[in-house]
Amino acid sequence: MPKILAVFGSPRSRGNSSLLLSRAVEGARETGAEVKELVLRDMKMSPCLEIYGCRKTGRCVIKDDFHIFHDLISESRGIMLASPIFFYSVSAHTKILIDRCQSLWVKKYWIDKIPYGKGNAYKKGLFISLGATRGKRLFEGTLLTIRYFFDVLDVELWRTLLYRGLDFEGDILKHPEFLDEAYEAGKDLALSLR
Ligand SMILES: Cc1cc2nc3c(=O)[nH]c(=O)nc-3n(C[C@H](O)[C@H](O)[C@H](O)COP(=O)(O)O)c2cc1C
Repeated sequence: MPKILAVFGSPRSRGNSSLLLSRAVEGARETGAEVKELVLRDMKMSPCLEIYGCRKTGRCVIKDDFHIFHDLISESRGIMLASPIFFYSVSAHTKILIDRCQSLWVKKYWIDKIPYGKGNAYKKGLFISLGATRGKRLFEGTLLTIRYFFDVLDVELWRTLLYRGLDFEGDILKHPEFLDEAYEAGKDLALSLR
């Protein structure tokens, strides 16, 4: 059974993106997939300090909870990441995680010398995001960030679920169709990894 890592990027534990991701987790588990959950707001994680202690081994030298993510993503075939839109980007919790993956970037492109853009994206990722407003370009910057984040993890951006007009905690509950879509996406992701 495939292993999937679910990363909750919102500072709200029962917020809109968290409820969507929880449904995706349920969908994936329904197929028998082994899903581990990481709630970033509960983790002790420093931002990247740009000291490049990772240059020798590709492992970040800062001793904190980032290593939980590092070990789990190494053994996972799929990732499901949910973050709200904050100032047209991901949440700060999510961005801290992304920046800490510079150590994986160093391993891939400096130590293993994989030519840029020539990595093997053999894993699959589902990205869930939402914001309060309805602008056409709401997710533009974030999607670029996520694409390059996933690239470092050897993850293909397999599917995105992006929702507009959701602001207050519980707003998502007015849209059971979005929650159903998340459930189905989690299920499909797990089935596609078999
Ligand atoms: C710091 C902060 C920045 C935000 N920036 C944006 C934004 O740029 N665009 C937008 O549409 N909504 C923005 N929002 C609204 C959130 O995206 C919205 O409330 C979302 O539903 C929160 O998701 P969550 O419940 O999963 O945390 C912002 C909210 C906060 C707290």
